[in-house]
Amino acid sequence: MFPFYSCWRAGLLFLLLLAVAVKEAWQVEEKGCDLIGEKDKESEKELALLKKLTPLFGQSFESTVGHDSESYTYKFRVCREVGNNSGAGLVQVNLKTKKETIVGRINETHVFNGSDWIMLTYKGGDEYDNHCGKEQRRAVVMISCNKHTIGGNFAPVSEERGKIQECFYLFEMDSSLACPPEDSHSHLSVGSILLITFASLVAVYFIGGFLYQRLVVGAKGMEQFPHLAFWQDLGNLVADGCDFVCRSKPRNVPAAYRGVGDDQLGEESEERDDHLLPM
Ligand SMILES: *[C@@H]1O[C@H](CO)[C@@H](O)[C@H](O)[C@H]1NC(C)=O
Ligand SMILES: *[C@@H]1O[C@H](CO)[C@@H](O)[C@H](O)[C@H]1NC(C)=O
Ligand SMILES: *[C@@H]1O[C@H](CO)[C@@H](O)[C@H](O)[C@H]1NC(C)=O
Repeated sequence: MFPFYSCWRAGLLFLLLLAVAVKEAWQVEEKGCDLIGEKDKESEKELALLKKLTPLFGQSFESTVGHDSESYTYKFRVCREVGNNSGAGLVQVNLKTKKETIVGRINETHVFNGSDWIMLTYKGGDEYDNHCGKEQRRAVVMISCNKHTIGGNFAPVSEERGKIQECFYLFEMDSSLACPPEDSHSHLSVGSILLITFASLVAVYFIGGFLYQRLVVGAKGMEQFPHLAFWQDLGNLVADGCDFVCRSKPRNVPAAYRGVGDDQLGEESEERDDHLLPM
């Protein structure tokens, strides 16, 4: 019975690993951001950052700006094609003429980060007609840390096309993925969850026990505490333990004069102590 069981478990584990492997392979096949360099010559940092941005891959962002005759909609996706354009990652649509201009392509992605922001650049966009030395357009997206959204507030900031080259369209957006990692916070939350659970259980025990003693048993006063005798015993035990561990001088010094064995010391000697106190 047991070998069969473990064999069944191993089989299940194998299937699970296989599924994960197939899924990984599938994701690699999917058209995504291409960094500069051959497959194994890409920057480790850029790869790590793209991996971090994975939760955004499924989302599309849009923002419309401008006035009547000159209004544009910008469409942006992280490492996925916008519409059926040829590899476009960020597209400008002229709302009047319906003309689409590719501002940047995902096959020319550059990415870097700071403590609470990520800068994503798509190069290889459509060429300028007569600005910027007729170079290819480029989209720069500044992703800032915002704990309240996985991705949002996408908006164009400005267009720089007054330079003779290296022009760019600048955008900004918010994402929690740009926030610095908070290891200690997650550790703390596990601890506090345990603490809260424990405190709740204790509260339920005492309130429930109190009500039971009062309403069902009909106890009065101190008797209303659940398991009163046990807790009193425990209290005494703890007190004894404390006495034993913490006290540096022996207790009940007068008892030594009387020459009485420790086992005979009880509440009686306590009472005698009381008499010794100067009133
Ligand atoms: C997307 O494809 C449809 C049909 O294939 C075509 O009509 C449309 O013009 C394409 N859009 C762009 C932006 O190329
Ligand atoms: C990116 O894709 C476009 C269109 O598919 C292509 O013209 C360009 O050469 C590609 N760029 C790189 C760096 O592969
Ligand atoms: C960039 O992100 C990585 C991974 O999240 C992080 O370890 C690194 O500290 C960040 N860079 C800076 C300059 O903060």
